[in-house]
Amino acid sequence: MNKIYTIAIIGTGARGAKAYGRLIYKSPDRYKITHLCDINPTVLNTVGDEFCVPAENRFENPQEFFAERRADVLVIATPDDCHVEHCLSAMKLGYDILCEKPLTDKEEDCKALLETQKKYGNKILVCHVLRYALSYLKLKELLDSGVLGRLVSLNWVEPVGYWHQAHSYVRGNWRNTAHAAPMILAKCCHDLDLIQYFAEAKCKSVSSIGGLTFFKPECAPEGATMRCSDCALKDTCAYSAYRIYVERWKANGSPAVDWPYNVLVTEPVTEEKILNAIKEGPY
Ligand SMILES: NC(=O)c1ccc[n+]([C@@H]2O[C@H](COP(=O)([O-])OP(=O)(O)OC[C@H]3O[C@@H](n4cnc5c(N)ncnc54)[C@H](O)[C@@H]3O)[C@@H](O)[C@H]2O)c1
Repeated sequence: MNKIYTIAIIGTGARGAKAYGRLIYKSPDRYKITHLCDINPTVLNTVGDEFCVPAENRFENPQEFFAERRADVLVIATPDDCHVEHCLSAMKLGYDILCEKPLTDKEEDCKALLETQKKYGNKILVCHVLRYALSYLKLKELLDSGVLGRLVSLNWVEPVGYWHQAHSYVRGNWRNTAHAAPMILAKCCHDLDLIQYFAEAKCKSVSSIGGLTFFKPECAPEGATMRCSDCALKDTCAYSAYRIYVERWKANGSPAVDWPYNVLVTEPVTEEKILNAIKEGPY
């Protein structure tokens, strides 16, 4: 019989629970989710109930969680600015690790991670998950087969839609580089990874530019209020949170479980919860 790997997850939000946790939970013959850690008790307990993790194995305090090794594998899906610290703590405890991207935007952090990994010998996989999307696997297969000829140039675009830009990079978790990685890592690390994967060569230089062109007070339409919920333009403005979250959600059939609505509110998603979130929350 194959070994059943025990899995702990730190950061039980969109990625940790809804993406990896649910996938892991579907394979009880291979994995068992045994421990969870999240600083948000509501999220922690909702996810703990969903994955049948006993109350004594749910940790609100990361320090307490890292007091000892809890499982074979640790999934690190905390926000960007926690990855290095959590990865270093986990390596020292001997975990094999699945860590969300991006690892870090600092060279000294990369060196510290590499040195610690060499010392403790852990297996670590960073979630550059697009490599495993069927379309990209097919593209790699075609390139390797030679049917397209020799690869000499790649023209690559990461198309972030205007509302996704507003959702994630203006209002959401990645709105500020004080807390999150910049766009070149937050979004484009997948592209950087894929380009190197397809080109089978290391990158020689990278540059990145950007700006908050539209997202400045002086660019707000006349009559705009602080919040979309009470704005006269809420039915017409392209960036209206009311249109992006309420109208789109309704047009999609008012799903109880769906991104990005489940980022604003806990599941099951309801109209009342969304209206409250755009009135009171960061969106
Ligand atoms: N691989 C991909 O394609 C992909 C896609 C989206 C996001 N991500 C990355 O995944 C990570 C998580 O993003 P998300 O969308 O799941 O965010 P999220 O906000 O939904 O989840 C993060 C969770 O971590 C918890 N948390 C915060 N600080 C903590 C701490 N110190 N200790 C324990 N828990 C803590 C929060 O309460 C939250 O529940 C980010 O780094 C993000 O860049 C990767």
